[in-house]
Amino acid sequence: MQKILFVCLGNICRSPLGEGIMLHFIEEKNLHHSLQVDSAGTAGYHINEAPDHRTIANAKKNGVDISKLRARKFSAEDFDAFDKIYVMDDSNYKDVLCLAKNTSHKNKVDYLLNVLHPNQNKHVPDPYYGNENDFEEVFQLVYKACEKILEDITP
Ligand code: 4NP
Repeated sequence: MQKILFVCLGNICRSPLGEGIMLHFIEEKNLHHSLQVDSAGTAGYHINEAPDHRTIANAKKNGVDISKLRARKFSAEDFDAFDKIYVMDDSNYKDVLCLAKNTSHKNKVDYLLNVLHPNQNKHVPDPYYGNENDFEEVFQLVYKACEKILEDITP
């Protein structure tokens, strides 16, 4: 069982997409026994809220329902609960690593887009102040990364 956590700032735009897209694949490919996913935010502004309505609408347009997900804050316990922690940008990376207690924790953390572009630390840009195109761009980036994660897990 591989346990994957997606992390962004608010847990209402980018990381819920990681969780929702992976849940979509888990359902589609019946991977319930091999893969577990979740998402969290480094900030607590939106705890218990549904994802941003623009993210929900864009994901729906792309065939993924994320409307039932609820935001939570990343915590130090997540290092033990998950095998891999994917962050979206430098600020998430810094905030998550601040809570790591050892090298094993640190080694679990990586930029999501490094699954596609190893070691480049590319960002999934924050769409919060953006427009519809920005939300679509984020969806496509996260979707491609999730496809790659899946490919690596189930060759
Ligand atoms: P996310 O986007 O980190 O992808 O969920 C944001 C959501 C909310 C805020 C910033 C980014 N905010 O400032 O409330």
